[in-house]
Amino acid sequence: MMPTMPLLSTDETAPRMLTPHPDTVAVHGGMLGVTASGSHVPVIDLSTTNPLAGVESGGDSYENLATGGTLRDGESAVYQRLWQPGVARFETALSALEGTEGTVAFASGMAALTAVLIASVAAGTPHVVALRPLYGGTDHVLATGLLGTTVTWVDADGVAAAIRPDTGLVILESPANPTLALTDITAVVAAAGRVPVLVDNTFATPVLQRPVESGATLVLHSATKFLGGHGDVMGGTVSGPESWLARLRQVRALTGGVLHPFAAYLLHRGLRTLPVRVRAQQATAGTIADRLVGHPALTRVLYPGLPGQDPLGLLGRQASGAGSIIALDLAGGFDAAVRFTEACSLITHAVSLGGVDSLVQHPASLTHRPVEAAARPGAGIVRLSIGLEHPDDLLADILAALDAARQTGA
Ligand SMILES: Cc1ncc(COP(=O)(O)O)c(C=O)c1O
Repeated sequence: MMPTMPLLSTDETAPRMLTPHPDTVAVHGGMLGVTASGSHVPVIDLSTTNPLAGVESGGDSYENLATGGTLRDGESAVYQRLWQPGVARFETALSALEGTEGTVAFASGMAALTAVLIASVAAGTPHVVALRPLYGGTDHVLATGLLGTTVTWVDADGVAAAIRPDTGLVILESPANPTLALTDITAVVAAAGRVPVLVDNTFATPVLQRPVESGATLVLHSATKFLGGHGDVMGGTVSGPESWLARLRQVRALTGGVLHPFAAYLLHRGLRTLPVRVRAQQATAGTIADRLVGHPALTRVLYPGLPGQDPLGLLGRQASGAGSIIALDLAGGFDAAVRFTEACSLITHAVSLGGVDSLVQHPASLTHRPVEAAARPGAGIVRLSIGLEHPDDLLADILAALDAARQTGA
């Protein structure tokens, strides 16, 4: 599963390590040829177009890339919408971390999901079996059928019965947004049979979970979150086998949901610190979750690492940690959740997650607002994304906000 050194070396003449640790992969992935080019980090190439050697060879390259091919030796990249070297570097680096044949990167997580759904509809399999909860945008695009898909909502036990001849995908998140619910990926893959399973791995990241090792076919990221890690770049990815990647590159080339070269640079740079950020943020989240259990303003602390939730069940088998997103269910319901969210001060009230600074938001009003009422997260739930601040400072902010939440009505 681990990549071989040619994916990693910064210098083709360097001694070869056979099985580098994922932390090493994170630092060196996608750097092949950088040192040899005389640079220490990848150069950002902003060209939207590329010189062609001739009419015939240019046309051949165009046809290759616009139909989902990869850049061939010595060939022109033709046009940024078809191929971009910095994007390709980032894709190589992420594939090495996810343990997949390849990756296709897009302008956002929703552009990545859109490409998968379009490819599935185009293959004559528009039916999706989906496990809730999912990110509200994913739920929204599936529930509306905007892209020509139909959906059957199930829990893990209902997957096998929901599969039809026209089913092209099973979609799940684990941990899921926003409740951190875990799903047994291996069991869903078995139940799905011939149907590919797509796991949105945004919350876990490849540092904590590599879904293909549990049999998933496709792995999706909102790269906007942990992969970038600093709240300053938007992107999305789908990692998987070449049979899917060619279709996804073709959809990307024809619909234009491409990642900008500077965004690709930032995301590639983000991967280099991903393991240390994920582990440090997770350690702080664990400390905070432990401390909040039993707090009188809360009915529940939803964090899969807590005793009584999943200690070493799925987290021991398909993942190696609970991550750094915590959901709090406030005893005072909606009003208390509003007071809590608005009272946080070090922690910013803002959508998104996975960055170096902590964020809080109220999913039922914001990210999960489009979800049908019966499936929407509870009105008392707030979602915290724990960053790299000191745990004592974050706890002080959270405890003060919990006091504010209790002041009336809680
Ligand atoms: C789990 C998950 N998947 C997908 C998305 C969509 O990604 P983006 O916002 O980059 O389009 C998000 C965004 O919040 C998310 O949390």
